[in-house]
Amino acid sequence: MKKVEVHASTPYDVLIGSGLSAKIGEYLIELGRSGKVMIVSDTHVAPLYAEGVADELVYRGFEPSIFTFDAGEESKNLKTYTDLLAFLAEEGFTRTDTVLALGGGVVGDLAGFAAATYMRGIHFVNMPTSLLAAIDSSVGGKTAVDLPQGKNLVGAFYQPELVLFDTDFMKSLPYDEIRNGLGEGVKYAVLEGGEIFDILSSGLTSENLEDFIALSVDAKRRIVEADEKEGGLRKLLNLGHTVAHAVETLTEFVVPHGVAVAYGVRVMARLACDRGELAEEEFFKIEELLLENDLALELNPIEELIPFFSADKKKAGKTLTLVTIAGIGDCRLTDVDIEDVPHYFGVE
Ligand SMILES: NC(=O)c1ccc[n+]([C@@H]2O[C@H](COP(=O)([O-])OP(=O)(O)OC[C@H]3O[C@@H](n4cnc5c(N)ncnc54)[C@H](O)[C@@H]3O)[C@@H](O)[C@H]2O)c1
Repeated sequence: MKKVEVHASTPYDVLIGSGLSAKIGEYLIELGRSGKVMIVSDTHVAPLYAEGVADELVYRGFEPSIFTFDAGEESKNLKTYTDLLAFLAEEGFTRTDTVLALGGGVVGDLAGFAAATYMRGIHFVNMPTSLLAAIDSSVGGKTAVDLPQGKNLVGAFYQPELVLFDTDFMKSLPYDEIRNGLGEGVKYAVLEGGEIFDILSSGLTSENLEDFIALSVDAKRRIVEADEKEGGLRKLLNLGHTVAHAVETLTEFVVPHGVAVAYGVRVMARLACDRGELAEEEFFKIEELLLENDLALELNPIEELIPFFSADKKKAGKTLTLVTIAGIGDCRLTDVDIEDVPHYFGVE
C-alpha cells in the first residue's frame, strides 16, 4: 500500500492499494466517524462495488444507505444534486454523518459538492474507482456540478477527509476509461518529468500502477498545497486544457476529457518546439510517450480551436494564461493577449 499525506486546509491521507475497500469501515473508525454513511455511486459502479462496501460498513457498526444515479457527465447536474440532498434529508443525515463517493470523477465531484453544502458541510470521504479520478479529480478539493451553460459552473472547494483507491477496481474499468485516465497521466508526466514520465513511457502495468498513482497524486499534492484555491501555481494543472476544452465544445463532448487533454499536451509541445522553446529531442520524447499510451491523436486543427479559447476559464479580461512547455518537467504560465493568440499559435 502507498500513502500520500496532503496538507491542505484540512489535512488528509490518500491510500492506494489492493483490497483496501474491504477495510473502509476500519479507516472511517480511525477518523472518528460513526453513524450513517451515504454511499453515492453511479449505475455502472454501484452494481459492482456498492453492496460490498455497504456490507463492510454494517459489519463495522455503520448504517449505510446507497444513492445511485445514471452513469455519465449528463448526470452531473443540479437535478441529481438536489435529489441527493433530498435523500440525505429523508434518511435523517446530520453533520456528524458521512458522504462517501464511490465512482469516477462525476460521482466524486457531485458527492463532494453535496457534502460541502448539505447542512453547511458534512464529513466527506472519496473512494475513486476510475484511473482519472484516482490520479486527479479525487485530490485537491474541487467539487462541482454542471449547468446547461457550461461545465463545473456551480461548486465549492471542499477537501475530503480521506481518499482511498482500491487498485482492484481497475480490473473492471473499460479500456476507453483507462485511456481517458492516461490522458491526464500524460499531463502529469510532462509537468513533472522524472519517474512518472519514465513509467508512462514504458507503459502502465499492474506492477507499476501503485507507483504511478502515488507519484501523480504527490505531484498534485505539491501544487494544491502551494495554491489550494487556484490563485496562480495551480493553473499549471491546466496544461493542455485550453485546447482540450475547445475540442470538447467543438465535438460536443464526444471526445472524452482525458483524451482531449492529451491532444492539448501534444499541441502545446508541438507549438513550443516550433517556437524554439522546447528542444526537438524532448518533443520527440513527448511524442513517443503519447504513442505508447495510444494517445498520439490528430484531432481538430488549431485554426478551428482558437475561436473557442476566448470562452476558456483561464481567460482573465483580455489575457489568456496558457501553460507552455519549456522542457519535460519544466512548464510555465504564459500570458498572451487574446488578440495575439492566433499569431502566438502561428496562425495568421
Ligand atoms: N475535481 C477535480 O479536480 C476534477 C479534475 C478532473 C476531472 N474532473 C471531473 O471528473 C469527471 C470525469 O471523471 P471520470 O473520467 O472518472 O468520469 P466518470 O465518473 O463518468 O467515469 C467514467 C466511466 O467509467 C465508469 N467507471 C468508473 N469506475 C469504474 C470501474 N471501476 N469499473 C467500471 N466502470 C467504471 C463510470 O461509470 C463512467 O461510465 C468530469 O466530470 C470532470 O469534470 C474533476
